Amino acid sequence: MIVFGTRPEAIKLFPLVHDLSARPGIAARVCVTAQHREMLDQVLSISGITPDIDLDLMRDGQTLDALTARLLTELGRIFDAERPDRVVVQGDTATAMVGALAAYYRKIPVSHVEAGLRSGDIHHPWPEEVNRRIISTIADQHFAPTDTAAEALRRENIPPETVHVTGNTVIDALLWTRARIAADPPLAAGLDGLARRFAGKRIIAVTTHRRENFGDGMAAIARAVRRIAEREDVAMIFPVHPNPNVRAPMADMLGDAPRVAMIDPLDYPHFVRLIEMAHIVLTDSGGVQEEAPALGKPVLVMRETTERPEGVAAGTARLVGTDEQRIVAETFRLLDDEAAHAAMARAHNPFGDGLSAERIGRIIAS
Ligand code: UD1
Ligand code: UDP
Repeated sequence: MIVFGTRPEAIKLFPLVHDLSARPGIAARVCVTAQHREMLDQVLSISGITPDIDLDLMRDGQTLDALTARLLTELGRIFDAERPDRVVVQGDTATAMVGALAAYYRKIPVSHVEAGLRSGDIHHPWPEEVNRRIISTIADQHFAPTDTAAEALRRENIPPETVHVTGNTVIDALLWTRARIAADPPLAAGLDGLARRFAGKRIIAVTTHRRENFGDGMAAIARAVRRIAEREDVAMIFPVHPNPNVRAPMADMLGDAPRVAMIDPLDYPHFVRLIEMAHIVLTDSGGVQEEAPALGKPVLVMRETTERPEGVAAGTARLVGTDEQRIVAETFRLLDDEAAHAAMARAHNPFGDGLSAERIGRIIAS
């Protein structure tokens, strides 16, 4: 049983659902918690997955404790009814952590996709750093995207024979989606209007949603976006996360800013096209930090730490924190110094080769 609930889990697990569903001898069942609703449905639709079970758990402005409690009772109920032989979770969301915990309470073995990411700081990202550590103590199969992630697990005394370096399935999802767009451009044609409106300007793509950035961090990011957009040679395209802690302050602070297009979350093909259109990406997202290097786009990471040092080491990502001045200065540097931009804008794929789901599927099946 493959359990997921948020947009990034769905993006990173749909290639594995495709793989496992095609394997003889495996009955792949998909249980979505719908910790996210619209953003999850966008991914289910593009990837052609119809869940076997949909718990429909999202509530507006949900708190961590109420969400966690709902997830635990509901997933427990489903595992009791379905009695899966194995549970697969991905990443570090509340759904993933509770999925592993509810399986453990029933002694069902757990496979963890995207295992071994560590920032070393339990408050950044919060609460994801603790969620993924909990999953690592429970899982008996750890699919590490990179050698660095595998090494982090070995340092925590996870038995080495249970750690497999597979690459990150996000690259599978990205390559699959790019091929779909190439074959069928209308899939991402919803951005044609913004492309026309901002023709001749350099596009900066922005996303932000991290809980540890709520409040002061969001305000600083909004001020930085407003200041960058004062330049007439840029346009910012900002798909705003629906979390009320993001949406409300961004609408207040940026609603009237010229050259800032605040739009609803894009479905995956449109977001991939947005990264391809962008000159620079500003983000606090985990997944976007992996996709931007694969597409050769400089990414400024608005976080204090990262559990994805591979992008920084490859030279396509730079940590800029949530200090307004620093975000503006680093963005201006990339806008004004062509050599600095060119040095970052080289396609690297430290996170995977697009064949990760197949590797993971084979190991699970065996
Ligand atoms: C969650 C994950 C985070 C992940 C992020 C990806 C946890 C604790 N957090 O954070 O690790 O990086 O997803 O986006 O698991 N909402 C909607 N529609 C949607 C999705 C969300 O309206 O489709 C709104 C709801 O008001 C919801 C709120 O956003 O209550 C927060 O959703 P939640 O899943 O609790 O947290 P995220 O901040 O999205
Ligand atoms: N994404 C998307 N539409 C958007 C913004 C992001 O499809 O409007 C995708 C993005 O390509 C990446 C994933 O969502 O694959 C990242 O999700 P998010 O930033 O919400 O979560 P994180 O990766 O930080 O957990």
